[in-house]
Order: sequence, then C-alpha cells, then structure tokens
Amino acid sequence: MNPRLRVGADGLGRLVFDDPVRAHNILDADTFRGLDEAVGLAASEAASGRLRALAILSAKPRSFIAGADVDAIASIADAQAGEQASRRGQALFARLGALPVPVVAAVRGLCLGGGAELALACDFRVASDDEATRIGFPEVSLGILPGWGGTTRLPGLVGLRAALELMLSGKPASASKAGRTGLVDRVLPAAQFEDRALAFVRDLMAGEDSRGGGARTAGARSRRRRGLGARLLDGTPLGRALVLAMARRQVARRTGGRYPAPLKIVEVLRRGAGRSMQKRFEMEARAVGELATSRVCKNLILLFRMRERARKGPWSEGGVAAPVERAAVIGAGVMGGAVAQSLAYRDIPVRLKDVAHEAVATGLAASRSLFNEAVSRRRLRRREAERKMGLVSGGLDYAGVGRADVVIEAVVERMDVKRAVFGELEEVVGPRAVLATNTSSLSVDEMAAALDHPERFAGMHFFNPVHRMPLVEVVRGARTSEATLETIAALAVRLGKTPVVAADGPGFLVNRILAPYLNEAGHLLDEGWDARAVDAAWRAFGAPMGPFRLIDEVGIDVVRHAGEAMATALGDRMAPAPALVALGRTNRLGRKGGRGFYLYRDGKQRKFDLSVYEDAGLRRSRAAPKPKQVQDRLVLAMINEAARVLDEEIVASAADVDLGMVMGTGFPPFRGGLLKYADDRGLAAVLSASAALHERLGDRYAPSPVLRRLGESGETFHGVFAGR
Ligand code: NAI
Repeated sequence: MNPRLRVGADGLGRLVFDDPVRAHNILDADTFRGLDEAVGLAASEAASGRLRALAILSAKPRSFIAGADVDAIASIADAQAGEQASRRGQALFARLGALPVPVVAAVRGLCLGGGAELALACDFRVASDDEATRIGFPEVSLGILPGWGGTTRLPGLVGLRAALELMLSGKPASASKAGRTGLVDRVLPAAQFEDRALAFVRDLMAGEDSRGGGARTAGARSRRRRGLGARLLDGTPLGRALVLAMARRQVARRTGGRYPAPLKIVEVLRRGAGRSMQKRFEMEARAVGELATSRVCKNLILLFRMRERARKGPWSEGGVAAPVERAAVIGAGVMGGAVAQSLAYRDIPVRLKDVAHEAVATGLAASRSLFNEAVSRRRLRRREAERKMGLVSGGLDYAGVGRADVVIEAVVERMDVKRAVFGELEEVVGPRAVLATNTSSLSVDEMAAALDHPERFAGMHFFNPVHRMPLVEVVRGARTSEATLETIAALAVRLGKTPVVAADGPGFLVNRILAPYLNEAGHLLDEGWDARAVDAAWRAFGAPMGPFRLIDEVGIDVVRHAGEAMATALGDRMAPAPALVALGRTNRLGRKGGRGFYLYRDGKQRKFDLSVYEDAGLRRSRAAPKPKQVQDRLVLAMINEAARVLDEEIVASAADVDLGMVMGTGFPPFRGGLLKYADDRGLAAVLSASAALHERLGDRYAPSPVLRRLGESGETFHGVFAGR
C-alpha cells in the first residue's frame, strides 16, 4: 500500500510515501486511492484516541512527492473532467488537513506541484536543508495552476507577493528560501532529518497535551511577522490590488498574453480576495477545467513528455553508457570555459587545456564567474561553489588528460586543427576514453577519418551560452559505437541538458533548420523590408528574438561562415542572400563587436543601428511588412527543411525536431514545437502556402517530397515520424 500508515504506541503516526516502481513519488491514481484510504484510517485512529499526531514522510531521500501524474493531466478531455479532478484533490487534501490531530509534512527532496499542495494542506511543514530539497509550484510551465488547493492556500501562508512569485515563475525554492518566506515552519539539518522531524512532531504532541489542543493555533500564530511594507502591500485591499495589477502587467509583457495560465493565476487571486475558502476552491477548480483543455496546455505537456523521453533513453538505465569520473576539455575559449564549468558544477573534475596561456586564464576566469553568478542567484552556497571551482584545473600540456573518461574538444572551428588535436589525444588518452567534438558545422565523419578508433568518437554539440541553453546535440558518426553515443548522451543528461541524437549531416539538426530561416531573413532585407519590423514580426510569433537580433547574437562572421558551408553542402536553395554577403563585408561582427544590426554596450543591446543599411549598401523601403507574411516566409522555410531532415534520417522523430527547435533556438513552446505547429495548422494548408511561395519566390521554397506527401495524404509529422 502506498502511502502506508503506521501508528506507534505513543500515538505518533507516520504516513510514508514510497512508490514501488518509480524513482520519485508521484501522485498518480493508485497513490491517490492509497492516500484516500490512509486518511480514512487516520481519521478513525484519531477518533479512537490512538493517533495523536501525524507525520507525512517519504522513504525516498531525494523525493518527498515530485508532483501529480502528468499523463493524467494530459488525458483530461473536457473542462468538466478537469474541474472534477481538481475538486477531488482539493477534497482529499482538505480531509487530511482537517484531521483532529496536528499533521506535519516532513519534506526532504523534491516537493513539487501536487506534492507541495499536499504539504500546504498540513498544519505544519518542516524541511531538510540539503541541496536536493526543493519546494515549488511548476504547474505554470505545464499551462495550468496549482489546482489542489495550492492557489487558494499559498498566499495565506507566504503573503501575496511571494505566492505570486512562486506560482508565476514555477521555480522551486530551496529549503532556506522556503524557511525565509514562511513556506515551511522549520528548516532542519539534513543529518538525522527524520529523527529531528519526528522530534518536532513529539513537541507538538506534548504541547497539545499541556495546552489542551492549542498547538496548532499556537503554531499558526507564531508564523512570520512581516515588515511594514510587506504588510501594507500584502495585507491591505489597496496594496493587494496594486500588487496584482503589477503582476498582471508583468505577465502580459513577458508572455505577450500567449500563455493563459499565469494570467489565470493572477485572476483567481484577484477575484478570490475576501471570499470564503469554499468559493476560492471553486474558482480554482473552474480555472483548472479551462486551462487543462487549452491547446497551450496540451502543447506544453507534450513538450514536457518529449523532453522526459529524450532524457530517459537507454542511457539512463540498462544501457551501455560508461561511467564518467573525470573529464578534459581542449580549447579554453568561449565554449571550452563554459563546458568545463558545467562539468565541475556536476562534480566532475575537469582539465582545461589550451595552446595559449591567456586563453587558459580566460577560460578559468569564465568558469569562476559562472560559479559566482550561481552564488549570487542563490543556486549554490559560496563554500560549495569554491569546492566545485577547485575541480577545474588548466594548463598547456596534456597533464591529467590521460586519466579522463571523456574528452570534449572545443578548439577553433577548423578541420585541420581539430584533426591535429585528436591525433595528439589518441596518443595520451586511456583505451576506454570517449572523445567528443563540439563542432557546430564540421563533419564528424571527416574528423573521425584520421582516428585509429573512430568508434569511440562522437559529436557533443553544446549551445551558447552553455549554462543557459538546455540542449545538447549528440552527433552519431557512421562509425560511432552505441556505448560512445550513450556515454555522451548520459553525460549530457547529468549536466542537466536534454540530448537529441542527430546523424552527421551539414549543421546537424538545429543549425540545419536555422540556416534557411536566417537566409530568408536576408532575402527579406534584399526586398527592402525594414529589419526591425521583421524582428518584431517574429517576436509577435512568440519567439524571444527576431532573426536579425539572432544574427547579432551568433556573430555576423559566424553566420556568414556557416551560411557558405550550408550552401556548399546543400546547394542552391541555401545560396546566401546578397544582403547577408554584403553585411559580411562590413566591419560589423554583431554583439561581440558592439555593433551589428543593433548597437551594444557592455554586451547589452541598445538601439537599432540605422546606418547598417548604408554600410551594407541596402535599400530600405518605407513599408512595414505584414507580420503574417514575414512569419510565413520564416516558418515555412524551416518546416520544409525539417521535412528534409526527417527524410534523410538526421533525427529519428518529429519530437526530436521540436525539442531541438524549442530548446536550441527558443521556438515558442506554447506552439509545441516547429512540427507540432505545422501539424496543428494542417499540412495541406502548409503545403499550399509553401507552393504559393514557391511560385512567387522561386525554387528555394519548392515543397520537399515529404512535405508534399504528407500535405496530400492528410497525415501529420508527429503521426508519421513518431520515433521509438
Ligand atoms: P574560441 O575561439 O572562443 O576558442 C577556441 C580556443 O581554442 C581558443 O582559446 C584557442 O586558443 C584554442 N585552441 C586553438 N588551437 C588549439 C589547440 N591546438 N589545442 C588547444 N586549444 C586550441 O571558440 P569557441 O567559440 O569557444 O568555439 C569552439 C568550438 O565550439 C568551435 O568548434 C565552435 O564551432 C564550437 N561552438 C561554438 C559555439 C559558439 O556560439 N561560440 C556554439 C557551439 C559550438
């Protein structure tokens, strides 16, 4: 039975969650039934006087309750079913909280979503102060809101502003933050956590005895006294109205109104103010019904599941991935320094090698500053950051590289240099070491040709900035072994990334699909459209930035270089737009040089630089393009290329394309990914829009055979390319 209730002779009950199959406790249908029975049992034990206090525990040290069952949310078919699911959870948790004895959630490990809502329904919460403990409400990232009483209870506990922050960001709080905000009543040392938590419950029992049942109210009363400002903002009608109006504005600005869940959270809090608990539960449940059936929610959940599946390949268990205890990174530039930091962050000692002293120093400094940033964002404690930084060492020779289980090469993007580096590496590494290249455009097979052991070689393509970008392309060369592939993929997962396996083709997955997009932006410039309006149109589609801002970000030189390589490899449809060629001849480099389409100071974007047109000899018509037209030009170019990528078996599934584009380029998540967008629009419509562009703009828009086939047959990308 999960959870299991045991009541000691002293009257202390323990309700212990321990999912029999999963690594985490999840509130799925079985667990829900188990909890329902256990609460019934606890109620009768309390009525008979045998149960005097209840501690809620988990037998899994890293997981209190990691959340509700995402599949159950995904299967909600209509608003009524969503509303009912919410009411069932609310009612069960309310019964738990209404037991006539003190109920304490003893939180250690992940306590998210439904798990956190369960904790909120208890009389008290204590938390272990270890790093694995995180308490939060990530529902918003799945397009819903905390619907088992969470939206209703949280503000009362932590105040309106902290509640909004937790629910709107979806970011979980560490134990210490939870302690500071009042989300938990007591933070306890991780050592002997369970004993200490039970001692806390025993104290309550003793208090109940001496005060005749007053412990719970005493506990509630002792809750955080907030400062005057906080009390004015959180505790007065005017203050609350102000806070909610501000939150609403921020959400609208950040999401462009495309994500209904955060707006709904604000609305439920606003309309619930001053209402009874019951009324607020009703509003919350109705909101779940509305949100859970929205397309945005369905798309976000689809992405979540695609991501889970990508992370849980054979490399997660039962596969042939080799353990990685030490690593080395060759090339201490922009990428090398950051890759070394991400390895050390996950406690993997790493040697950083370069050919230049200054580069090593810069690489180490870059690692250090990333650790400092983690400290200032309270992700790491200072002492931890220092210890991890101590795992990175640097130098000019191969000392230490020989002991590495994985070596990641990130030297300059030149085949001859990379080949020379791998030649040297083969001399120094051990027989079981895996070698990887971070190349973004060179052929992995060509690089492998000179190796004695190509089977232990693969691509491991990180995205810049490494610490923020969640994607790693794992490039399988023709001779890469399964063990090598899985070792790299498992390492990517360990670094907190999502691996997508791609075959060795020009630009692999993401850069291949981005190439026609960036080039098409160039063609729009050639036609005289306003670059700022093009960027704005793409942002209006839901992307974080437009193509010209992205070109600046990547570097105009890099984009030009990659564009040439793509045209050579893929032929005429990728022939560089004259505007981009002209731009490449100016001395603009993009953000890194302080000037591209936009101006930058200290790396921060400033205004658009109008002189770019004259500089590159471009004409600019006055007309602003219609956003829809711009969006279609860009998105159809990408869809068509993605169809080719699938046809060539560069990746195994439409899900891989979608993950790659969302996680590697910021393609709007609410659309579910590039090909989900295409499927939703209907491939017949996509095909006819592409055919129209083909007619008007020429062969680069010629629908690919796969797009034509699916468009004519009425099938979908996700249906036909469902993958493993
Ligand atoms: P970078 O120019 O910042 O760094 C390259 C480093 O390699 C320099 O420090 C250089 O001294 C060093 N180096 C050159 N020859 C070497 C050798 N024989 N042995 C050891 N070190 C050597 O370049 P960046 O941007 O870090 O790129 C490195 C690799 O990562 C390239 O293959 C690039 O295509 C790839 N990449 C770059 C991304 C980016 O946005 N910058 C994104 C993804 C991949």
